[in-house]
Amino acid sequence: MKKTINFKVNGIPVIQEVNTKQTLLKVLREALGITSPKYGCGKGECGACTVLMDGKSVRSCIILAVEADGSAITTVEGFQKNGLTDVQKAFMKHNAFQCGFCAPGFIVSTEEFLKENPTPNEEEIREALAGNLCRCTGYQNIVNAINEIAENRGGGK
Ligand code: FES
Ligand code: FES
Repeated sequence: MKKTINFKVNGIPVIQEVNTKQTLLKVLREALGITSPKYGCGKGECGACTVLMDGKSVRSCIILAVEADGSAITTVEGFQKNGLTDVQKAFMKHNAFQCGFCAPGFIVSTEEFLKENPTPNEEEIREALAGNLCRCTGYQNIVNAINEIAENRGGGK
């Protein structure tokens, strides 16, 4: 069954006909060409597909596109108003990714987390990002990057 949804993606109004069984991730990647959210586990467990829906992180692999009707979706592309963001630059500086597959999910989760908690300690950073899995880095470089972002934004402990 098909349905037409109206939503905003990275600030741009989108009207899109979708199959009612299609996930938001599939529509973002395949219909709209937004490829930062990745298909990892497809079960809501790895965080590679994380996007913001009305400012809250969701796993786009387990959200149906029809559930996004009327919402505002933000992906990594939506944060890049003037080139790379401070989060992206800090991830690069600290080698916070290797293969990079997990990075978009971490970056979206980091943006959400630092908005809610601009002065996190290491334990809080680790706890907040526990739902994002990385097979390559061992996490310490990611924590270091987020600490520096918080400090540069006037937070950090
Ligand atoms: S691909 Fe969505 S959580 Fe793993
Ligand atoms: S950098 Fe490879 S999974 Fe995180």
